[in-house]
Amino acid sequence: MKRLSAISTGILTKESKGIMARNKYDVDEILEDKFDVNQLKRLAGYIKPHKKPMAGVLFLMLSSSALGMLIPRFFMAVMDQCIPDGDMRGILRYAGFTILIALYTAASLRVKITLMTKIGQDIIHQIRYDLFVHLQELPFSYYDERPHGKIQVRVVNYVNNLSDLLSNGIINTVTDLCNLFFIMFFMLSINVKLTLVCLCGLPVLTAVVIFLKRRQRRAWQIQSNKQSNLNAYIAESINGIRVTQSFVREEENQGIFNRLSGSYREAWMRAVKFNFVMGPAVDIISAVTTSFIYVLGIAWMSQADSGITVGVLIAFTAYISRFWQPINTLASFYNSLLTAISYLERIFETIDEPVLVKDKPGAYEMPLINGEVEFKNVTFSYEDGIEILKKINFIVHKGQTAAIVGPTGAGKTTIVNLLSRFYNVDSGEILIDGINIEDVTIRSLRRQMGVMMQDSFIFSGTIMDNIRYGNDEVPDEQVIEAAKTVCAHDFIMEMEDGYYTQVNERGSRLSAGQRQLISFARALLSDPRILILDEATSSIDTETEILLQQGLNKLLEGRTSFIIAHRLSTIKNADFIMYVDQGGIREIGSHEELLANKGEYYKLYMSQYDFLMEK
Ligand SMILES: Nc1ncnc2c1ncn2[C@@H]1O[C@H](COP(=O)(O)OP(=O)(O)OP(=O)(O)O)[C@@H](O)[C@H]1O
Ligand SMILES: [Mg+2]
Repeated sequence: MKRLSAISTGILTKESKGIMARNKYDVDEILEDKFDVNQLKRLAGYIKPHKKPMAGVLFLMLSSSALGMLIPRFFMAVMDQCIPDGDMRGILRYAGFTILIALYTAASLRVKITLMTKIGQDIIHQIRYDLFVHLQELPFSYYDERPHGKIQVRVVNYVNNLSDLLSNGIINTVTDLCNLFFIMFFMLSINVKLTLVCLCGLPVLTAVVIFLKRRQRRAWQIQSNKQSNLNAYIAESINGIRVTQSFVREEENQGIFNRLSGSYREAWMRAVKFNFVMGPAVDIISAVTTSFIYVLGIAWMSQADSGITVGVLIAFTAYISRFWQPINTLASFYNSLLTAISYLERIFETIDEPVLVKDKPGAYEMPLINGEVEFKNVTFSYEDGIEILKKINFIVHKGQTAAIVGPTGAGKTTIVNLLSRFYNVDSGEILIDGINIEDVTIRSLRRQMGVMMQDSFIFSGTIMDNIRYGNDEVPDEQVIEAAKTVCAHDFIMEMEDGYYTQVNERGSRLSAGQRQLISFARALLSDPRILILDEATSSIDTETEILLQQGLNKLLEGRTSFIIAHRLSTIKNADFIMYVDQGGIREIGSHEELLANKGEYYKLYMSQYDFLMEK
């Protein structure tokens, strides 16, 4: 046994090298080249509903910082007037003002934090909601194309990463920009020459920003790509854990994880490195200009007409530190803006993803379906250039049961997926009661269909909820009736809480056959006009299947249905059988006709018959 698993591991290792290069979790998403201001404009759309409280917060922040600007002026007055004049009351007055301003600033800050955290979270909630709503509408083809982990990371991580930008970034930026103007105004009002010395640092800083901009943005984009790749792999690994463990592939997977996590770490380190450049650059420029001010200020002080006093110099140095502080926060905001934009690109890209399968303009409600289904020259491909169905033609009359058989990968599931319009046909038409299904609303079409998919899903919740899924108005009795029809009632009643037993996502505590029966009951529940059963009973024992068949025959009466099955015993009674292979219908007719034909169906039937006989 050990040897065997070692062999299989060996084979997988060889294969995995090939797979690794192609795996979607390894493929970085395409990076946008331009710094797209439109992303911010769209974000502004989300901010708009909150503009009133935000304007209030802005007023508080601006007023408190304007008042704060007066404090160095108080120093100046105390130094140059009160102390030389021995004006104690003046000193106390200025001290009192300073305390009042500090209290006002503290209160404003408190209000800002409370309000902006709430507004930020409201906006994030709205973006996340819009993303989810859109994801629910996106067609199967969208999900076929990308790893689900990459989709998850957008809804959860990327949106969360906007939190800092929304809660602090925007208000701080506006406040800081205004502060800069206030400070410059006060500095100019004290001494023009010294102000100009201070401003000499700005061109140097601008050069640093220009140098960093592109590199930094690209580094953050790469970081978000690597995060997405890692997440895709984690999601896939969790979903496939059983296969991984049974094929003893843990070590290889750890290797892949290590590599993906390693490149995420590297990308993060590279991106964050740029963030560390800005702060020190601002600090250095600030220190250099301050020393210039000291040297030049003291030199100029000795000139009689300079107007520079000790008080002026003290006030001025206080302003300089305040001047560079908003520049520093603006620089770090710029960092988080770049990060946020790389996330916004991905978020809006998903929201903009076109819904390829959607209602046409003027689509109308599908009237109550009678049940005639016609495929007229239907051609379809999942990927451009690879036709899966080629000019398929058939008619199923009202109330008939059509069976579709054929080898694996022939296109059986594809045919029924097109009927529910999970994909659009490339050419040709699918008509129900003579109405092209593309002319009616998808909702009104799918509501009248009961589809049991080949890989049905069980959701976390009770069995009752799972059967009722999407048919909330249906009473319990009807749910139980549907379960009885598919012979699921007995096993459900044996579970500890019967219909109210909790099952996990994917129904891990149910057997494969039990999961099929629950999905089967779900498909029947809505009393569909067209019933589609894709391998509905493949995991169910033959005894239960015979019982189920009796119930089902009653149910199929008067209802058009499509049954796909590999086990031919289940479809013998169908009104007609289509044998599908290589994208076309090769044979069509009743069981007896096809047997008499001695074609592919006959061969298939005989092989199963022989197999049963041998058993
Ligand atoms: N989402 C998809 N994207 C691309 N190709 C697909 C997709 N789904 C199916 N195919 C391809 O289309 C062909 C038909 O698939 P389909 O699922 O219809 O086969 P099937 O007859 O139902 O097979 P089975 O008996 O195994 O269920 C296969 O060759 C498959 O590789
Ligand atoms: Mg199939």
